[in-house]
Amino acid sequence: MSWPQLRRPRLLARAPRGDSRLALLLLLALAPLLAAGTHCPCSEPELCSPIQHRPDFEVFVFDIGGKTWKSYDWSQITTVAVFGKYDSELMCYAHSKGARVVLKGDVSIKDIIDPTFRTSWIAQKLDLAKTQYMDGINIDIEQEVTCLSPEYDALTALVKETTNSFHREIEGSQVTFDVAWSPKNIDRRCYNYTGIADACDFLFVMSYDEQSQIWSECIAAANAPYNQTVTGYRDYIKMGINPKKLVMGIPWYGYDYTCLNLSEDHVCTIAKVPFRGAPCSDAAGHQVPYKTIMKQINSSISGSQWNKEQMAPYYNYKDHAGYFHQVWYDNPQSISLKAAYIQNYGLLGIGMWNANCLDYSKDAIAKQQTEEMWKVLKPKL
Ligand SMILES: *[C@@H]1O[C@H](CO)[C@@H](O)[C@H](O)[C@H]1NC(C)=O
Ligand SMILES: *[C@@H]1O[C@H](CO)[C@@H](O)[C@H](O)[C@H]1NC(C)=O
Ligand SMILES: *[C@@H]1O[C@H](CO)[C@@H](O)[C@H](O)[C@H]1NC(C)=O
Ligand SMILES: *[C@@H]1O[C@H](CO)[C@@H](O)[C@H](O)[C@H]1NC(C)=O
Repeated sequence: MSWPQLRRPRLLARAPRGDSRLALLLLLALAPLLAAGTHCPCSEPELCSPIQHRPDFEVFVFDIGGKTWKSYDWSQITTVAVFGKYDSELMCYAHSKGARVVLKGDVSIKDIIDPTFRTSWIAQKLDLAKTQYMDGINIDIEQEVTCLSPEYDALTALVKETTNSFHREIEGSQVTFDVAWSPKNIDRRCYNYTGIADACDFLFVMSYDEQSQIWSECIAAANAPYNQTVTGYRDYIKMGINPKKLVMGIPWYGYDYTCLNLSEDHVCTIAKVPFRGAPCSDAAGHQVPYKTIMKQINSSISGSQWNKEQMAPYYNYKDHAGYFHQVWYDNPQSISLKAAYIQNYGLLGIGMWNANCLDYSKDAIAKQQTEEMWKVLKPKL
């Protein structure tokens, strides 16, 4: 790891000059401090050092800001992807728990065709990671790419070059890439999945928003139905991607759809909102965090229902204007099935979008519900 060059000489110059032995002693005493840079914001300078340990099981957490991280289950977390404002207190805390803290990486696909642009983008991210004492980067590019276009190769190159730079400059660092629930051109994202998987530490598979393109009937369905989710992994593995390069992303949020019609057998017809070529999509609904869902469920007209085909819970409610809604979500029951799949197929780990979605208040019921959501992530012995 290389440190910002300006810092060292400045501190060295302050060392007393008179007694050279004293100076040497002082230098030795200061060595760990120097190694961690002079602006380490943590109580212990070594907390600014990058994490070296590679866990056997990843629990990859997306955080979107605020202080809810203080209530997370840190006995499980191995990586926090910071998608909110940088918080040095979070970095120090995560490091004290042996967890990595990584940057978000997003860039315009058009721009990265130019190798010079890629190089400067990577240099800028690397510099940011170093000055913030972070442990890597999660590349989250969800833009459309045409198969075998210049963008297609540029994206693979970007991931490869980012990994090379980070691994070289920050010892033990982690570079990951977010992919759709299936490699089959979801949302017109034709990426070189095997090339990208080879080029980084692992893929975070976003096994949610699986109704982003509805090709059949326009009806409300689960955010991440079990079979559909599993089909995605089967396809990634069939392409030759090692299961140990796959972390399963689960949603800690659901979708609230307004029904044009709600039939007696709970079929909720939704408005036609096209997305990237498909006639309808989950864009007809809106995302709701698990904490909101849990507050609403008892006042719903159906209570929690379980759909056996999709292996997911849902409920129906009527809004103030008299419209029926159907809400599809994931709960400990649906997530535990996916967690079992992870174990049976030897995937590298689990993660969620996003950790802030749970209720971290002191309320006793909320507390228990939140605990259960964290608990089901744990591999069974
Ligand atoms: C994907 O990327 C790898 C590594 O760069 C390359 O060898 C391979 O040819 C690419 N595959 C396709 C289909 O372009
Ligand atoms: C709408 O729902 C009602 C009540 O369940 C049902 O009788 C009717 O057939 C549905 N209409 C359509 C167009 O699906
Ligand atoms: C909702 O109802 C269930 C079952 O009666 C109960 O266990 C739960 O505590 C209730 N939740 C809230 C938020 O009141
Ligand atoms: C889910 O997949 C299993 C195994 O492929 C199959 O037997 C079952 O019918 C599927 N269920 C649904 C609802 O598609």
